[in-house]
Amino acid sequence: FHIMHLASEMAPIAKVGGLGDVVTGLGRALQKKGHRVEVILPKYRDLDLSGIKNFKKLNKQFYSYFEGALHKNSVWSGMVEGLWVYFIDPQHPAGLFDRDSVYCQPDDFKRFTYFSRASLEFMVQFGKRPNIIHCHDWPVAVVAPLYKSIYSKMGLNAKIALTCHNFEPQGKDSMEALLSCGLQFKAPLHKDHFQDNIKADKINVLKSGLLHADFVTTVSPTYAKEVLTPDMGEGLHTTLRGLKKKFYGVVNGIDDKTWNPATDPHLEHHFSVGDMEGKKVLKDNLRRRLGLSTEGADANKPLVCCVSRLVPQKGVHLLRSAIFHTLERGGQFILQGTSQIPAIKEEFDELAVEFEGHPQVRLHLKVEEELTHNIFAGADIFVIPSVFEPCGLTQMYSMRYGTVPVVRKTGGLADTVFDMDQKHIPAEKRNGFTFVEPTEAALTSALDRALRYYEEEPQFWADLVTKVLSTDLSWDAAPIDQYIKLYEHTVQEGHPPAS
Ligand code: ADP
Ligand code: GLC
Repeated sequence: FHIMHLASEMAPIAKVGGLGDVVTGLGRALQKKGHRVEVILPKYRDLDLSGIKNFKKLNKQFYSYFEGALHKNSVWSGMVEGLWVYFIDPQHPAGLFDRDSVYCQPDDFKRFTYFSRASLEFMVQFGKRPNIIHCHDWPVAVVAPLYKSIYSKMGLNAKIALTCHNFEPQGKDSMEALLSCGLQFKAPLHKDHFQDNIKADKINVLKSGLLHADFVTTVSPTYAKEVLTPDMGEGLHTTLRGLKKKFYGVVNGIDDKTWNPATDPHLEHHFSVGDMEGKKVLKDNLRRRLGLSTEGADANKPLVCCVSRLVPQKGVHLLRSAIFHTLERGGQFILQGTSQIPAIKEEFDELAVEFEGHPQVRLHLKVEEELTHNIFAGADIFVIPSVFEPCGLTQMYSMRYGTVPVVRKTGGLADTVFDMDQKHIPAEKRNGFTFVEPTEAALTSALDRALRYYEEEPQFWADLVTKVLSTDLSWDAAPIDQYIKLYEHTVQEGHPPAS
């Protein structure tokens, strides 16, 4: 198969969160299975060019329609982590991708609607004929209705897959903004397909994508069930219930080349099952690097960590108590995170100052991928108390580095972490500590259990570390075959298999 991924992020060159990791990891895993994979991205001003090989501007340009006019686009191409990527560079007066960040611009809706239409136009004009156009999240969701109404008649003969990595952002704007990309409400499109379910004066491109894609996935089976409820469906639960036969939950895999403690180039020492000395050294190095004490009674203290975007989704309201509780219990804590939300940023900036120079707690409020790898590798326990979590990659990365997860039982966290103390779960599955209520009491009780095992039962802990370290969480373990089955059935039979 020829699979064309359309996305707003791709690791490591344009990564904001887990979406970027998945676009690269899924693409590479598909390619390894013999499929032809390409990716289309916007040409952001701040692409990390060190991650692109053979980056060059193509001679050929193309025009695409927007706001009643044709706009010229340049195209760049290059190889990212072994995948061919095309970068669309619009010559639009608003400098659509000539900005400081991937998202959080006042005209995000316009920028990505433009990109969606231009990506389809690029495929037509550059002779790309993929079997599957795989769209990721709201920024490219409008590709599905655009394809159904315009581009299926222009030489493309593809099936459209839409993966929603998070139902919270949906791409809501005015009808006028939507129509700028040239959509017309003729069969099979209908105005209602775009009408937001909550706000009468808004359209919703994610909704239209869900209705017009050939199949839809989200990133874990539990989240796929949760979003069918009014509490967690972000206003789309009724639409999602209607998708029954084409809506699937496929848990993400992790990219085993990027995340491997035996070979990770970000680590000064390596480790694997049966050779764990490296993890001990990395723990001490990490603590020294961030100014935590490693001397005397502190030498064997449990090191609890969290790496996260600091947003309500991740349960930030519980992180403060996780830090203080760990400290009270005689452990050490490292938090690495950033926030674009001013009130949260301020709160954590203040907390960071409070702990400046503290021998047991460090808040590192910067994104540094290299440090992130060292945190996953050096920690004993990883906490992620999400209020909701479509999949979550950080709990899997930590497990891959022999770090035991403590998570709230929701979405993909519930599908990947199983509580050590829940005897009804088969022993071989149990691999961490979970809690259900999004409260401080529930979090601290789960964290306490982890800390107690660490302190009082070293053999139990060592066995648990070996177990999480040896679990195969890669794309190859299962998810890649699930995606390939969805692609194959949809291309060969014209519709996805019964979900
Ligand atoms: P999400 O995509 O919702 O943030 P995931 O767990 O799927 O959650 O993926 C998070 C990815 O982003 C991981 O690769 C993690 O290392 C990285 N990451 C975590 N926190 C931040 C942050 N504050 N800024 C940028 N990247 C982060
Ligand atoms: C989103 C979700 C996260 C998921 C990631 C990759 O950012 O918040 O749970 O792991 O996408 O699918």
